[in-house]
Amino acid sequence: MTLRPRRLRAALAGALWLAWPAAHPAADESAAIGRLLFFDPSLSASGRLSCAGCHNPKRAFAPDNALAVQRGGADGRRAGLRAVPSLAYVLPRTPAWHQPRASSQSERLLENDSEPAGGFGWDGRFDTLRAQAAFPLFDPAEMANANIDDFAARLRRAPYAGRLRALCGAAFEDAAALGACALAALEQFELQDPAFHPFSSKYDRVLDGKAAFTAQEARGKRLFDDPRRGNCASCHDDTPGADGSHPLFTDFRFAALGVPRNPEIPANADAAYFDLGLCGPLRHDRTGDRPSCGLFKTPGLRNVATRRAFFHNGRFHTLREALRFYSERDGRPAKWYPRAADGTLDLFDDLPRDLRGNVDRSDEPLTRKAGDPPVFSEAELDDLEAFLNTLTDGYQGTAP
Ligand code: HEC
Ligand code: HEC
Repeated sequence: MTLRPRRLRAALAGALWLAWPAAHPAADESAAIGRLLFFDPSLSASGRLSCAGCHNPKRAFAPDNALAVQRGGADGRRAGLRAVPSLAYVLPRTPAWHQPRASSQSERLLENDSEPAGGFGWDGRFDTLRAQAAFPLFDPAEMANANIDDFAARLRRAPYAGRLRALCGAAFEDAAALGACALAALEQFELQDPAFHPFSSKYDRVLDGKAAFTAQEARGKRLFDDPRRGNCASCHDDTPGADGSHPLFTDFRFAALGVPRNPEIPANADAAYFDLGLCGPLRHDRTGDRPSCGLFKTPGLRNVATRRAFFHNGRFHTLREALRFYSERDGRPAKWYPRAADGTLDLFDDLPRDLRGNVDRSDEPLTRKAGDPPVFSEAELDDLEAFLNTLTDGYQGTAP
């Protein structure tokens, strides 16, 4: 068993984090218009789907249903390929995708110091929020604008077209420039609006010395932190930054956890289709780069107890099931993976056979062998869940 110094590496990556954006008046008007765009279904081909249709502010900007993938497109029926992530918290502090290079002796001593981190999307393929926003606007399974002229025409018809003209100036007359101005406005909204990062959870109150964990929540946190037990914090970083910023529960790095294939995703009906994360098919710059295949970005865990589809493929629908997967993936594989045609267990069945070696088996708690007992007892799962509940905004918990 090796305990990799992920926490240390996360601290180094922290130096590259973007600062929270400073507000200035033009940016404020841009953000205000971005807010209108975000909630406007008339920007979609069906006329019914806005960004908020999938990223509902009442659900930490995640969907208000338990579907593994959402439907969109001109007829509202085309299914997506991945679970919709929460947009709360992570956006302003997601670093641009990068592959750190060892520059100092201490970094060279770290194992895997060239591991990539950051970028938007489960596969980190977008460097900026404006580049990201163009994806749902034009994706045929999402808002399905046919092209930039189509999108510009919708913008010019919007009730707030006058404000958009004032903001974008001459760009209003040119489809490509108007589209870019609108994408920048969406980005400003996502970076600036306090609704994305209220820091109103019990966890925040505990950090500020205004509340205390119950005995059960404290036990859950110890399991979450202990490198020899949950080891969760080594990827879902839960310590405040050097500047006092409250943690987001992700180090923005990538890992392959071997989440079972999800038959609820229509694309998976094709046995030859695989979502390989960093190596494609949505990301294009690492196609065929075998060590990248099957890796997805570590999501932040704030508001995780309110989610209804877990992991990149939405395979699980309750927090308990997601935690049980960590607890029993290795010890009880027959519970998670189907039998192949030849009767053998199809372990890590959501990856092609020759890429299954990429699945993480070295980071606790994913280091057990078949037949081992679950990593966590039922009481410990209760403790972990109690702790994770403290990450829900507005949750005050019971008195200690
Ligand atoms: C049909 C559902 C749907 C709609 C509509 C939608 N999104 Fe998303 N969004 C997703 C999915 C699915 C992902 C994950 C995509 C991936 O990993 O490839 C995502 C990812 C994101 C991310 C990346 C988050 C992160 O932490 O990396 C951002 C930002 C985002 N969406 C913003 C928007 C904006 C802005 C709009 C409107 C212009 C929008 N979305 C419309 C489904 C949707
Ligand atoms: C080696 C890094 C690593 C460790 C250790 C780790 N996680 Fe994760 N976690 C990830 C990655 C990567 C994903 C996304 C994987 C995917 O979707 O395929 C994830 C996803 C999750 C999700 C789903 C969240 C969502 O929004 O879909 C939960 C819940 C979670 N982890 C909780 C935990 C807990 C609790 C522990 C400790 C028992 C833990 N994790 C340990 C990297 C890690």
